[in-house]
Amino acid sequence: MLDINLIRKDFPILKRQVNGKPLVYFDNAATSQTPQQVIDVIVDYYSNYNANIHRGVHALSQEATDKYEAARHTIQNHFNAKKAQEIIFTSGTTHAINLVANGFSKLINQDDELIVSALEHHSNIVPWQMLCEKTGAKLKVIPMTLEGELDMEAYTALLSEKTKLVFVNHISNALGTINPIKTIINQAHNFGAAVLIDGAQACPHIKPDVQALDVDFYVTSAHKICGPTGVGMLYGKEEWLNKMEPYQGGGEMIDQVTFEKTTYAGLPHKFEAGTPNICGGIAFGAALDYMNAIGFDKIATYEKELLDYGTEKLLEIEGLKIYGTSNNKTSVISFNLEGIHPYDVGTLLDKMGIAVRTGHHCAQPIMSFYNIPGTIRASFAFYNTKAEIDALVSGVKKAKMMLS
Ligand code: ALA
Repeated sequence: MLDINLIRKDFPILKRQVNGKPLVYFDNAATSQTPQQVIDVIVDYYSNYNANIHRGVHALSQEATDKYEAARHTIQNHFNAKKAQEIIFTSGTTHAINLVANGFSKLINQDDELIVSALEHHSNIVPWQMLCEKTGAKLKVIPMTLEGELDMEAYTALLSEKTKLVFVNHISNALGTINPIKTIINQAHNFGAAVLIDGAQACPHIKPDVQALDVDFYVTSAHKICGPTGVGMLYGKEEWLNKMEPYQGGGEMIDQVTFEKTTYAGLPHKFEAGTPNICGGIAFGAALDYMNAIGFDKIATYEKELLDYGTEKLLEIEGLKIYGTSNNKTSVISFNLEGIHPYDVGTLLDKMGIAVRTGHHCAQPIMSFYNIPGTIRASFAFYNTKAEIDALVSGVKKAKMMLS
């Protein structure tokens, strides 16, 4: 069991008020809050050893380099990557996906097909469309069902010898559906296609094992996992990373530079041009340490309790409809009130100190599928409580009364 009161003490922001009301933070799928343990690591970096890495012989630079590389090892262990150089620091999930899409520019051609899912965030659609425009490859879409699940029969039918890449999220940000990624990966591999999994929404809830999944690329952002914004990672199998061309040119990613020809550094530096987010990388490692100390099994059990409780209580409200009703989902509830625009509900909830996200959640194809402008999305983390869900339910009831 988690001691929620104790855990909540780790998060200074949870003590604040918004519009004169205690903050109820249910926008965790957009970004998670930061525990004091991670804040301390950030303050320590800038207070005691702020320096550029991999460059200086001086003590501060060595110290920063050691901590940054130690964080890479923490990430490697967390995701069970075979080698540390298979972990590339990025500015986040979006950067990581763009890096892979660019890296494939010369590895695919106009006869190839790429498969995306109907459940994707724009960041796992647009970079691939750009790749298709550059190369002439075709983009195929795995359709979704009314429950917000992937149509796996349709997926099987889409796969062929032409398929070169499949990219799917582990968990849908808009609906919370947990996708059957192991099956998706295995089936793609039967046709020799590589698979990228967008783990941005999964990593706060699940500890993925990239070797057990046999996934080719797995990407995520630190800020969804109690870390800072502006840092994330790309896990890539070494053989793929070696085949891909670099995304950005600059310092750190080179071996030899002459005006005639530049040769590139080995992994991971080939993909890490320029001064990285050093403090962010170190804090990313600290955030994983924090989450692991709590334990992902305990987190998942508790969040399921919150999901079940929230679903039951919200469904008691007449005219409330939940989008994303898979049995296999995480603690995200996307809903609407009949005849009321989600933005209006979100605005009134904010007046009550309750933070939710409203809109299309950067997943317009899902909203088009349901023929709605957007939803109100409440996303719970392990530091939320049932009392906060009660506050949400009573807030939604009040909003409904005011707007009907
Ligand atoms: N991708 C983030 C979300 O779903 C920002 O809110």
